[in-house]
Amino acid sequence: MTQSTFTPRVFSGIQPSGGLHLGNYLGAIKRFVTMQDEVAQSIYCMVDLHAITVWQDPKDLQHNTRELAAGFIASGISPEKSILINQSQVPEHAQLGWIFNCVARMGWMQRMTQFKDKAGKNAQNVSLGLFGYPALMAADILVYHATHVPVGDDQKQHLELTRDIATKFNHDYGVDFFPITEPVIEGAATRVMSLRDGDKKMSKSDPSDASRINMTDDADTIAKKIRKAKTDADALPSEAKGLEGRPEARNLVNIYAALADISVDQVLADVGGKNFGAFKPMLSDLAVAKLSPISGEMARLMSDPAEIDRILAKGAQQAREITVPILQKTYDIVGMVRPAV
Ligand code: TYM
Repeated sequence: MTQSTFTPRVFSGIQPSGGLHLGNYLGAIKRFVTMQDEVAQSIYCMVDLHAITVWQDPKDLQHNTRELAAGFIASGISPEKSILINQSQVPEHAQLGWIFNCVARMGWMQRMTQFKDKAGKNAQNVSLGLFGYPALMAADILVYHATHVPVGDDQKQHLELTRDIATKFNHDYGVDFFPITEPVIEGAATRVMSLRDGDKKMSKSDPSDASRINMTDDADTIAKKIRKAKTDADALPSEAKGLEGRPEARNLVNIYAALADISVDQVLADVGGKNFGAFKPMLSDLAVAKLSPISGEMARLMSDPAEIDRILAKGAQQAREITVPILQKTYDIVGMVRPAV
């Protein structure tokens, strides 16, 4: 099956488990904003059903879902241009997720590195949902027949699994029904690293708050975290090749490039030869200039949660215009009896 048989449609999601950080912004949300103008339809989702694969306090989950919606909108995702939803308001995600639980193979799921990382030595005691997580993720995407999925680098394996599920479904039922989705993993910041360790991904689960910049951090906190970010003793190189073997330097340069919307080569043409004492204040000024308006707008939007709820309710209605017919057709293909229409 060729991609061209499907209308380009973008879908992506983020877990509302709190602590939206610079990695989420540069690796995902910033790309969501540009992509909403590049295709006719884009759907962005707070994946609350995914979030509860690990324990979430119900009050926190509600707060974090609204805060993530505020983060999307404050970053430039327009509810007029994109469909903005929380996953649980569109039941077809979970319904198609069940069908995909019956398509995906145990062996495929057991290979998922994110499950292995999250379960760690505790694999017997994690939820069944955490294991099945990638099948629901495939359903999120395919229940829209989405063709393009912007994500950070850590989601690559899950998107390969999505393609495997679509291929197996199409093959088993002898149809060309689900598209073979393209991951969109692009830009200088597809993998933003910890500010404390350039070999570790920036993550909300890192116990050190100094390892990440949160989207709700104020200007002083951002400046302090960048000032304290781990670096090496050398000056910055003038070409990207000179960043090899220097993970912390590479990370800060990548962050600068992504925030400024320029290439790493352009950054280094400017700052090559400078030491970190000179570069860090430049990075910190840029980060504050780009992020402060977003955190300010998030706080403003959060002062009217009812408006956020209205946006999500409208998004769910628009989403279901797409998902209901796709799920019905899937049920027909699988052989589920339903009332004649
Ligand atoms: P989540 O919530 O862990 O992360 C949301 C997005 O942020 C990206 N990201 C990063 N990018 C660069 N550097 C980092 N340090 C960094 N940390 C996180 C992630 O790659 C992701 O794009 N499984 C997904 C949520 C999901 C989803 C989907 C995504 C559920 N269904 C369908 C796409 C399509 C997740 O846990 O993302």
